[in-house]
Amino acid sequence: MALVRFPLIFTLILSSILLSNHSVKCDHGEEDDLYQEINNYRKTLNLTSLTKNENANCFADEMADQFKNQPCTNTTGANTVPGTEPRFSNYPDLLNKCHLNISNTRDGAVMPVCVPGLVSSVVLTNFTQSLYSGNLNDSKFTGIGIGSEDNWIVVVLTTNTPEGSFVPDTSNGANLISKFGLIYCSIFLLVGNFFLL
Ligand SMILES: *[C@@H]1O[C@H](CO)[C@@H](O)[C@H](O)[C@H]1NC(C)=O
Ligand SMILES: *[C@@H]1O[C@H](CO)[C@@H](O)[C@H](O)[C@H]1NC(C)=O
Ligand SMILES: *[C@@H]1O[C@H](CO)[C@@H](O)[C@H](O)[C@H]1NC(C)=O
Ligand SMILES: *[C@@H]1O[C@H](CO)[C@@H](O)[C@H](O)[C@H]1NC(C)=O
Ligand SMILES: *[C@@H]1O[C@H](CO)[C@@H](O)[C@H](O)[C@H]1NC(C)=O
Repeated sequence: MALVRFPLIFTLILSSILLSNHSVKCDHGEEDDLYQEINNYRKTLNLTSLTKNENANCFADEMADQFKNQPCTNTTGANTVPGTEPRFSNYPDLLNKCHLNISNTRDGAVMPVCVPGLVSSVVLTNFTQSLYSGNLNDSKFTGIGIGSEDNWIVVVLTTNTPEGSFVPDTSNGANLISKFGLIYCSIFLLVGNFFLL
């Protein structure tokens, strides 16, 4: 009995280590922190909380992916001089990946910042004390998506009008896919766990 029990306990420990590693990949701490901080900031301005928007989240991830190899400088991210924002020729493709197009995103705001190590307090001031502050304190924005890669974190704000909703007319398909992503992640963890046992 003792011989059987040891490897069982061992695999349980191993799988819980594996599980916790994967959980980190499934959800980013910096993004959740920033979400809370931005809403706290809006509370101090008596503005409504921003609700999470799955498509905006997806698009923020795609944008962060585009930025990730660029170094932080005094002219990138929150330090960008208005009018010199980088343009991506594959922008429509990136929108498309998230089931979006220009019609339902044009009133939104895309705000990339670059902070080495994504130090949470510095990230917040990059949003609240820059050209972006005018968006964060704007009551027209009602939703938010956040994505990060390396030193870059991108916030996408959405409105409750059709032009900035980040929700396609036929929103069911897109919702299904993002829900499926979450389910897939859970199943992946479960299967990984059983495989070890
Ligand atoms: C927010 O509302 C409270 C109570 O209505 C008021 O005392 C405070 O001055 C307001 N703050 C701002 C920034 O408008
Ligand atoms: C950015 O930094 C460079 C030196 O690294 C400096 O010459 C330039 O004036 C700075 N630009 C701004 C907008 O601060
Ligand atoms: C953003 O953070 C960087 C540090 O990574 C800092 O150098 C820069 O001044 C900040 N910009 C703003 C507008 O707060
Ligand atoms: C919002 O931010 C902009 C730019 O920083 C500022 O000019 C404006 O007064 C702010 N409005 C409120 C209500 O805080
Ligand atoms: C954007 O997608 C909607 C359906 O969600 C469609 O009706 C519209 O024609 C599309 N617009 C563009 C510019 O592709």
